Amino acid sequence: MRVLVSGGAGYIGSHTVLALVEAGHDVVVVDDFSNSKPTVIARLESLSGVHVPVHAFDLTDVDKTNALFAVEEIDAVIHFAGLKAVGESVRRPLDYYRTNLDSTFALLEAMRRHDVTRLVFSSSATVYGERAPVPYIEEFDQLASSSPYGRSKVMNEQVLTDVTLATPGQRVALLRYFNPVGAHPSGRIGEDPQGIPNNLMPFIAQVAVGRRERLQVFGGDYPTADGTAERDYLHVMDLAEGHVAALEHLDAMPERVRAFNLGTGTGTSVLQLFRAFERAVGRELPYEIVGRRAGDLPAFWADATRAHEELGWRATRTIDDMCADTWRWQSQNPEGYPDGE
Ligand code: UD1
Repeated sequence: MRVLVSGGAGYIGSHTVLALVEAGHDVVVVDDFSNSKPTVIARLESLSGVHVPVHAFDLTDVDKTNALFAVEEIDAVIHFAGLKAVGESVRRPLDYYRTNLDSTFALLEAMRRHDVTRLVFSSSATVYGERAPVPYIEEFDQLASSSPYGRSKVMNEQVLTDVTLATPGQRVALLRYFNPVGAHPSGRIGEDPQGIPNNLMPFIAQVAVGRRERLQVFGGDYPTADGTAERDYLHVMDLAEGHVAALEHLDAMPERVRAFNLGTGTGTSVLQLFRAFERAVGRELPYEIVGRRAGDLPAFWADATRAHEELGWRATRTIDDMCADTWRWQSQNPEGYPDGE
């Protein structure tokens, strides 16, 4: 298939581009580089050995999105592009709703006009909200979320469901990611957050490389084995392969709209991940336990049975793989991607 990857220069998008090429697909990237660097494309080309065509514009532009579908032959879309910082979404909700919804509207419109029926959407475990029982299963239908970012994902799932069911032949896989971490084993591409990282793994990696003084562990009094919060971390290459599996399964999907959890099915605590990272680096790292972060849940992880049974996909990389690959990326690129090379 010739696959349009929106947000293909971003963290998960770039790893998925490699997995798609590896599986024999052609890729076209659309990205406005608002939260990524063009350097990643050159690295994708050298790693994959193929030319990666890139269209640099903002997908909320309906005319440009339509024009893209007119010039490129597209068989399927994987839609990653969007804003994703939870805290920022609380301060700038309108930007989040507008960007994350308008881009989907523009894509759906262009797909309808150009008769493209396959879509894989980048959703999040955050759609289960605060009251869902763990482990999360896809049948849970009281979708809710505690932030504008999360609610933009819930709304996207609803829009995609309604439009898909009203569009003959269209199919969508809603992929609910748990906590993606790690990097491509080459160390050439990885997660490159701008400013102070919000998420745990990039923060630990920046402590290890000397860019941050110490990790602050948010909460040591949760009702978990070691008192720190538990999440279902999964390797970004497993996640990327999950997209390929979903894409290839779309045409055979009995339901035209289907949600899939992509996680390992196991929880790991903040301190367990931190200790695993110390093992990868080979030395102790500084940390302190501080108060809980507002809005955090004590523990959640995926029931990943459906993805295994229906997509034939399962996460195979371990926590130690995730840490070793993150460390390779971070130590080879201490400041992230360069502006040019
Ligand atoms: C967060 C978002 C989630 C989003 C996901 C995207 C919140 C409440 N949730 O998930 O909606 O889809 O990012 O990647 O923001 N931690 C520390 N110290 C740090 C950073 C994190 O102790 O400096 C802890 C957190 O308290 C949490 C765990 O590490 O217990 C994981 O945090 P994080 O990586 O931010 O992911 P989530 O909060 O699970």
